[in-house]
Amino acid sequence: MQINLERMQRRLAALTTPALGGTPAGGMTRLALTDTDREARDLFITWLREERLEPRVDDFGNIYGRRAGTDPTLPPVFVGSHLDTVPGGGRFDGIVGVVAALEVASALNEAGTQTRHPLDIVNWTNEEGARFTPAMLASGAVTGVFAREWVYARTDRHGLTFGDELARIGYLGEEAARPSAIAASLELHIEQGPILEAGGESVGIVEGVVGIRWCTVTVCGQSAHAGPTPMAVRHDAMVAAARMIVAARDLARARGDINATVGNLIPEPGVINVIPPTVTFSLDLRGRIDATLEAVVAKDLRSRFDAIAREEGIAYELIVDWSVPPTPFASVIKDRAEALCRERGYTARRLWAGAGHDSQYLARVTQAAMIFTPTIGGLSHCETEDAPWPDIAKGTDIMLALAVELANG
Ligand code: GLV
Ligand code: MN
Ligand code: MN
Repeated sequence: MQINLERMQRRLAALTTPALGGTPAGGMTRLALTDTDREARDLFITWLREERLEPRVDDFGNIYGRRAGTDPTLPPVFVGSHLDTVPGGGRFDGIVGVVAALEVASALNEAGTQTRHPLDIVNWTNEEGARFTPAMLASGAVTGVFAREWVYARTDRHGLTFGDELARIGYLGEEAARPSAIAASLELHIEQGPILEAGGESVGIVEGVVGIRWCTVTVCGQSAHAGPTPMAVRHDAMVAAARMIVAARDLARARGDINATVGNLIPEPGVINVIPPTVTFSLDLRGRIDATLEAVVAKDLRSRFDAIAREEGIAYELIVDWSVPPTPFASVIKDRAEALCRERGYTARRLWAGAGHDSQYLARVTQAAMIFTPTIGGLSHCETEDAPWPDIAKGTDIMLALAVELANG
């Protein structure tokens, strides 16, 4: 059984052409449930059929390609990732994981290898949360975290709903296609950070994924004219928001155990000569210890924001929209991955994932694990995202071996 690197490169190239969301700068803009997402899904399904993997689509648009096992009573082993990207994202985040999952099936087909359990090659809908928040929406839905009607009612920034867009692109499938039981779940992904590259390691064995809080902060001040209003009497929501953003950054830096990011900020009315009465900004917090994230939101941030609110004479509201606990992956799979790397002479290290992944939700219902490969310069969620193919080949080789072991277990 051997993976075919050239086939993987060809498939990744085909999934990242301009017609499928490839950008002139070499990156990707393929938001979930857009026309380019439909094109990428269609191509994925073409390949599933070519590999004789029976496709099914569930009521969240998740696509599963089934490779039958010898015992039809056994639940499937999942191997997959996501085809959607952030705007101005890279060619590897998610996409290489789908290509690697397909490669597992292609290599098994070429070798004529049968497994006891079936394998499902999976594309998860809206992993990124860039169009419909939160991230990992559809894997969360099938693992019981989110209710269907709530998912369908999620809106993008133009007011279009997840449910309508799913139907529009023709990927509203059947509830019966959802997984009922999953024997194990594997995902290959680029690290999206600098650790493997710095250490010169080819393969990352992911300990688990950090906890996440997505918050919305709304700051309310007093609207007034930019010209006649003296500086001393203003209640400027933008200035207060700016101070809060810096306070969050300073807190995260001082603690050293969390990351804090403000990626979106919307002033109302957003006009040059009006002191904005309202500013809304996003706040993304990540950390390995759930109690730390809880305390940061409930105490540390609030006390700093309260002080800023008093000084600026404004009011604010902080709402936690999405919360995922830190998620360790299955030790048995991690140990096996480590042993397989040793046997093959691949340099490997264990590390935590700082980004969210569908595997985090899958870990709620099955033994889940992830394999990382290095990211050049540690840069991801940007158009210059790049990853060394020789390491992707090694990571995929490990995932193939793990898939076969799990599917024969
Ligand atoms: C998804 O990529 C996330 O980590 O936000
Ligand atoms: Mn991803
Ligand atoms: Mn991503």
